[in-house]
Amino acid sequence: MSYRKLISFVLILYLLNSCLLSCSSSLTSDGLSQIPKKILTLAKKHEFFHWLVGIRRNIHEHPELGYEEVETSKVVRAELDKMGVSYDHPVAVTGVIGSVGTGQAPFVALRADMDALPMQEMVEWEHASKIPGKMHACGHDAHTTMLLGATKLLKEYEKELKGTVILVFQPAEEGRAGAKKIVEAGVLKKASAIFGIHVANVLGLGKMSSRPGQLMAGSGRFEAKIIGRGGHAALPQFAIDPVVAASSVVLSLQHIVSREADPLDSQVVTVAKFEGSDAFNVIPDYVTIAGTFRALSPQSFKQLKERIEQVITSQASVHMCNATVDFLEENYPPFPPTENDEALHEFYKNVVVDMVGTENYLETLPVMVSEDFAFYKEEMPGHFSFVGMQDESHLPMASPHSPYFEVNEESLPYGASLLASMATRYLLESSSLPNKSSENDEL
Ligand SMILES: *[C@@H]1O[C@H](CO)[C@@H](O)[C@H](O)[C@H]1NC(C)=O
Ligand SMILES: *[C@@H]1O[C@H](CO)[C@@H](O)[C@H](O)[C@H]1NC(C)=O
Ligand SMILES: [Zn+2]
Ligand SMILES: [Zn+2]
Repeated sequence: MSYRKLISFVLILYLLNSCLLSCSSSLTSDGLSQIPKKILTLAKKHEFFHWLVGIRRNIHEHPELGYEEVETSKVVRAELDKMGVSYDHPVAVTGVIGSVGTGQAPFVALRADMDALPMQEMVEWEHASKIPGKMHACGHDAHTTMLLGATKLLKEYEKELKGTVILVFQPAEEGRAGAKKIVEAGVLKKASAIFGIHVANVLGLGKMSSRPGQLMAGSGRFEAKIIGRGGHAALPQFAIDPVVAASSVVLSLQHIVSREADPLDSQVVTVAKFEGSDAFNVIPDYVTIAGTFRALSPQSFKQLKERIEQVITSQASVHMCNATVDFLEENYPPFPPTENDEALHEFYKNVVVDMVGTENYLETLPVMVSEDFAFYKEEMPGHFSFVGMQDESHLPMASPHSPYFEVNEESLPYGASLLASMATRYLLESSSLPNKSSENDEL
């Protein structure tokens, strides 16, 4: 090869590399319906996929609990810096809010959660959690990676975006309502709509799933102290036994759902904690019970909460005990039910069908788990959906919050391109889609 040939060869290599993803064609030139497929093709490219996997493994090895996502937030900001994406930090303690696009309206938001769980990883693999007692067992490492992936894809054709995408890397989804703090920080005031996703262990790789309307339950906690009078276990006549009283309380609580609720309006009351004395021969002064309650509709949720308090205090008094009930709302704000906007769901479904085909969209039934994504939904139209992970090499897959939970990394390009596609298409179609102002008009 001559010197001149070599130079031009190197130059071509350089040019190819500098437009790693999409140099060749415009995203929007072949019409709206082609966008999701084009984006998925980019996201599945070898180099892009390995970049995603690297980020996910790094985050997975260093899990952090809610509002402590210091290192995770650093990883996010380092990647945004490399892409030349501007952001605000800290928002809601450890959150990062980035933006890509024109800087002008319309604005659409994409959300990922960054926190891990206080549990020991039991999966034995090279990139297992390096932090004892903490684990990404809900897939939030994957969600954060998918949103970074979406950001890189969006950045690649930023000039073609017809508005601005707000990137929400939120802290503390697990029980601590990081989403509520993000909303309160006021950083989403301009956003017309918001999209969120979650990896799903029971859904096939390459498949996507959601439903219009009720998707996930609202959830709250309660803790009650049933107060009697302690004494010798052999002399119950001189004591007021809170153990028997609390046992009655637990059984009566179970009757709220089985006897009062509409069987077709799903609700759950679970007492998960029951603590009395440490000794076999001492009647304790009091018993502490604690649990969770869930409902799919806001009305049922409110009613459930009222009845839980009534049942606990009344049943305690039947047994001559007193009771105090605490819903712990200060530290653990109750999550509202997650309901998908119906028109946004149609929009989502169109994007999914354009990306992976009708056969890979599945409408799910509602589930009784909950998501703090619901707090965004209270502020603007929103949509939440599931991205499948299961394939032959991952079957069966442990459920979220299991110490054996795994992420199939092949799902990362799907999540990244779904987020990027929804944002891109929303901005192009926004005038005919639900947005904050159209919702306000109805009020
Ligand atoms: C319950 O509260 C009432 C009113 O304060 C009090 O008189 C009673 O002693 C309490 N009972 C127990 C078992 O603590
Ligand atoms: C919001 O929705 C209304 C009614 O559907 C529409 O006229 C308006 O253009 C939309 N606004 C944005 C910013 O997309
Ligand atoms: Zn979780
Ligand atoms: Zn989760």
